[in-house]
Amino acid sequence: MIKVSSRIITVDRTPVFMGQDALLAVDKFLQSMHLGKEGIYILADKNTRQHCLPLLQKHSGLLAGARVLDIDGGEDSKSLLTAERLWNDLLVSGAGRESLLVNLGGGVVSDLGGFVAAGYKRGISYINIPTTLLAQCDAAIGGKTSVNMGKLKNQVGFFHAARAVFIHPGFLNTLPEDQLRSGFAEIIKSALTGDAGLWHRLLKHPVNELLVLPVDHPLRQDLLTGAIRFKIGVAMKDYREKNLRKVLNFGHTIGHALETWSLMNSGRPLLHGEAVAAGMICAAWLSQQKSGLSIACAEEIKSYISAGFTRYPIDQSCKSALIDLMKYDKKSCNGLHRFTLLAGPGFPVINVVCLEPEISGAIDFYNR
Ligand code: GLY
Repeated sequence: MIKVSSRIITVDRTPVFMGQDALLAVDKFLQSMHLGKEGIYILADKNTRQHCLPLLQKHSGLLAGARVLDIDGGEDSKSLLTAERLWNDLLVSGAGRESLLVNLGGGVVSDLGGFVAAGYKRGISYINIPTTLLAQCDAAIGGKTSVNMGKLKNQVGFFHAARAVFIHPGFLNTLPEDQLRSGFAEIIKSALTGDAGLWHRLLKHPVNELLVLPVDHPLRQDLLTGAIRFKIGVAMKDYREKNLRKVLNFGHTIGHALETWSLMNSGRPLLHGEAVAAGMICAAWLSQQKSGLSIACAEEIKSYISAGFTRYPIDQSCKSALIDLMKYDKKSCNGLHRFTLLAGPGFPVINVVCLEPEISGAIDFYNR
């Protein structure tokens, strides 16, 4: 283990370097990999190429000369078509099995880049340098890689662990407010499923207050570190999501369906975290019905999230479409919708079968 960054944790065999000095660890880590001559490739989207790459290259001489592959930002890039284009770019540039892909960006870049790395020549190494809150506290950690099929999220993918993850909170200063807000949904999820103390702390600080805190504010740092530690702990115990890792799906069953629906139907599709925020309100109602969450707690979850995220109107036709889209959820089994719910903050319950009238009731609770 290289002792450069202030905090290093490992998930499986992947070291996660966190803190303002995380980028200083990049070159030392790359040197320790003894990469061959085949080269390093950086995957960035148009935003991270402009706003994050210069800082990364300032800290890493080895990455200063690397070839950059870029993609458009947004979920539409997370496709087999883009993956094929990137595989072709790697091929014509002479990338081989010893090449390394460096994913610099949010969840789309880390999911897609990991997928490309997993498939190229049957698997090359990659590292993640997440630049959004959502990717720093969730998507870039834990080895899940994927592409969407059409607008259906994450339907094809591999478990293929990054060789390392470097989390530099300073990148969050480059984020637009809606992206930052979206990331806070995953922090709320971590608190609700993993840490009742963190949830009660969050309750004292509305999302709109958290958004304007400087990235080095102790509360912001604690929230990010808490969420990262929780993610790492869960992914270490159940890397392939046989059981425990399903807790990370709280709010995602309805959330993913809503995200897909809005990608299909809205001029300004919901960001992942915005959809998960809605999904968590629905899951709070289901938890109260099915897994012992108190009514007061379900209402508290609803009012905290509603104050931080704009309500997305779900009318009758959207509701039916959502229930239909939920059959693509990876937890579904034999046509049954299975949810991760709560018995209380910090006490998740997995694999709870919910029937369509119950799901419909949860959406009514969200709409009220
Ligand atoms: N984002 C959920 C997981 O990594 O399992």
